[in-house]
Amino acid sequence: MGAEEYVPDKAGIQQLRKAVHDCRGCDLYKNATQAVFGEGPADAAVLVVGEVPGDQEDRQGHPFVGPAGKLLDKALVEAGIDRTQVYVTNAVKHFKYKPAERGKRRIHQKPGRTEVVACRPWLIAELDTVRPDLVVLLGATAAQSLLGTTFKVTQERGKVVELPDRAERAVATVHPSSVLRSDDREAAYRDLVADLRSAASVLS
Ligand code: URA
Ligand code: SF4
Repeated sequence: MGAEEYVPDKAGIQQLRKAVHDCRGCDLYKNATQAVFGEGPADAAVLVVGEVPGDQEDRQGHPFVGPAGKLLDKALVEAGIDRTQVYVTNAVKHFKYKPAERGKRRIHQKPGRTEVVACRPWLIAELDTVRPDLVVLLGATAAQSLLGTTFKVTQERGKVVELPDRAERAVATVHPSSVLRSDDREAAYRDLVADLRSAASVLS
């Protein structure tokens, strides 16, 4: 188990993106359409980590192109983070879902700890290649991939923390999908933007 043996050494982003399609590090490749690797400038100042590609991302092959991505784009702009300076990726690279009981809909499932740990070598390879000044962790899955399972987004959101054994500083916040699901969307969105603003302060 684990992606380690599939990640080429000293590879650039293009090589990594090509290699991820052969990954068999966990079972998720079996039912997904394709792996969805990170995208953005190879020298981006900010690296944003989501959870796992959704239905749209799985079909299109690009991260954050669905509703959560639209909201993220808007929030980044509002927080003063130049979207062209941002590399976006996910903690887990293959879509995880279960078929709806009726019809063709595919229902998003949260990746488990095994899948997050299995896929982490890809994320580490992206970090090693991009070497951002700031890492933004969207939601518990992304945060716990890099900060450990005891990390609590609800308590630590918006704070600048050091990534263990790495030079980068990170800020965790909620996942944009949770804003879309929130009873008070406006407040949840405002809080997300506030966390992203605090993250942006690392850059200046
Ligand atoms: N949610 C994520 O975590 N990542 C995506 O790429 C899309 C939705
Ligand atoms: Fe490999 Fe990650 Fe896909 Fe699992 S989810 S097969 S570890 S790329």
